[in-house]
Amino acid sequence: MHEINNIVILTGAGISAESGVATFRGPDGLWEGHRVEDVATPEAFMRNPALVLKFYDERRASLKGVQPNAAHKALARLDAEWDGDLLLVTQNVDDLHDRAGSKRLIHMHGELSSGLCLSCGQRSTVTDDFSNDPACPHCDKRTLRPDIVWFGEMPYQMDKIEQALKKCDLFVSIGTSGAVYPAAGFVQTARHYGAQTLEMNLDPSDGSLYFHKSRMGKAGELVPAWVDNILAD
Ligand code: APR
Repeated sequence: MHEINNIVILTGAGISAESGVATFRGPDGLWEGHRVEDVATPEAFMRNPALVLKFYDERRASLKGVQPNAAHKALARLDAEWDGDLLLVTQNVDDLHDRAGSKRLIHMHGELSSGLCLSCGQRSTVTDDFSNDPACPHCDKRTLRPDIVWFGEMPYQMDKIEQALKKCDLFVSIGTSGAVYPAAGFVQTARHYGAQTLEMNLDPSDGSLYFHKSRMGKAGELVPAWVDNILAD
């Protein structure tokens, strides 16, 4: 294998599954009992803001009862000990990578703990429920929405992510179904620019054929073993 200095890692809901956070595409096709179109689109928010705000308030409240698992912790250890470039891009809106200690981290789909002001466009940490209509700390208007990238919206920091994908030697995808673009296309960009590509997932993702290597199993077992290996090399 060629020398590795620069790593980009993409994570999805599967990495938090063993912590007890529900994945998006469960066997029933529902996310915590809702169709994704009813809670994760700008149209849903315009149609029924109370339902959408309550849904994200519940998701944020449920984070208090979950903890980072062995996979989050292993990636935080890699971040702390890896001397080369590293970027962890998560599609997850939970805070388990942050709480595990990852620093070189981008939440490309936003964060449950953040609010986006529809008046001034600023992002801020949310401590009160959206359903209580808290004021934006920047402009004082009561126009906060969940800081979540809904379907049809542009993910955060795509320029930085694309630059990292073009430069990386190794691209690793963990616990994502590969069903949602642009994240689903990262493997092809990284590979096109010469990276080795590895997937770790419970079962083959939609883009499995694009990876040089696929390891099937639980993130909580596969990721710590992979991190041990790469740090030992
Ligand atoms: N270890 C590894 N992989 C797992 C585990 C586990 N313990 N449990 C489940 N998985 C895998 C599933 O097999 C599935 O392929 O994780 C994947 C989760 O897929 P999704 O539920 O589709 O989640 P994700 O890929 O993160 O969704 C992408 O879709 O709804 C939008 O914006 C939302 O960020 C989300 C995006």
